[in-house]
Amino acid sequence: RRMSTAGKPNVYVTRRIPQKALDLLQGECSVAQWDADDPVPRVELLKGVKGIDGLYCLLTDKIDAEVLDAAGPGLKAVSTMSVGFDHISLPELRKRKLPLGYTPDVLTDATAELTVALLLTTSRRLVEGVHEVKSGGWGTWIPLWMCGSGLSGSTVGIVGLGRIGAAVAERLKPFGVSRFLYHGRNPKPEAAGKVGAVHVELEELLSESDFVIATCALTPETKEMFNKTVFSKMKSSAIFINTSRGGVVHQEDLYEALKRGTIKAAGLDVTTPEPLPTDHPLLTLDNCVVLPHIGSATVETRTEMAVLAARNLLAGLKGEKMPAQVQL
Ligand code: DGY
Repeated sequence: RRMSTAGKPNVYVTRRIPQKALDLLQGECSVAQWDADDPVPRVELLKGVKGIDGLYCLLTDKIDAEVLDAAGPGLKAVSTMSVGFDHISLPELRKRKLPLGYTPDVLTDATAELTVALLLTTSRRLVEGVHEVKSGGWGTWIPLWMCGSGLSGSTVGIVGLGRIGAAVAERLKPFGVSRFLYHGRNPKPEAAGKVGAVHVELEELLSESDFVIATCALTPETKEMFNKTVFSKMKSSAIFINTSRGGVVHQEDLYEALKRGTIKAAGLDVTTPEPLPTDHPLLTLDNCVVLPHIGSATVETRTEMAVLAARNLLAGLKGEKMPAQVQL
């Protein structure tokens, strides 16, 4: 639907978004929107962006040369309602000198909280436990029944100590974690200092950690980095948690590692594809907890993300620096 108002910049919004964000956009722009909760089909996206000044997209929309060409030379800014921007072709934005807005910081707390929740759900086998209660599998109190592994005294390895990784470490510290290791391109002395995390090579992180947590961005370097070789270097008692992108995991290798006991368990908030088909082999495993990409899913956070994405787009349309702009 397009609400045309002469003289205002035309923006295209690829999804139904929180009203507060839509109101902001409509205050200054003529807004056309894919007014549904399902992703806009590619053909509709290519039609919808024709002649627009600004594009407001989500992580489910692939923004590449074809979309940018379909939009045409009037396009001034792109804004995504997500902190991740692996769905957007940065070289194509650079080529066209288009600024890109994203939503860091506002989702850090919610995502770190969910990461901790997923870790505990996996390590203490909560999904299995609930299932046993409902299915009659709960007999009596048995000394070693439904036992998991504790955080107290453990070593936690974080791959990608960015905003979210650091926030996860801060939240885990009070559980009595004895050592934090982290791996990433660059040492992060400030974030690491707060929890006493040590920058190590991946090999060391893998062999030493009881919990391995992926909070890195999906890039060509991290694509499917959690593969057979990596899982084989982890402890057989290790628990792997991923709240970044499904693409950092080689999923068949993870399945094999979980099935064979190469590692003990995995908790995933992100998969390939999303949604994960209900007949996917990973879903047959008791030692794998899969959540539907809900890291940032609190009402407040999603609203803040939507509003920040709107503010980014409005600034970009005026040629101003966005409140949160990706360094291209
Ligand atoms: C993001 O923002 O990139 C997350 O995956 C969803 O909040």
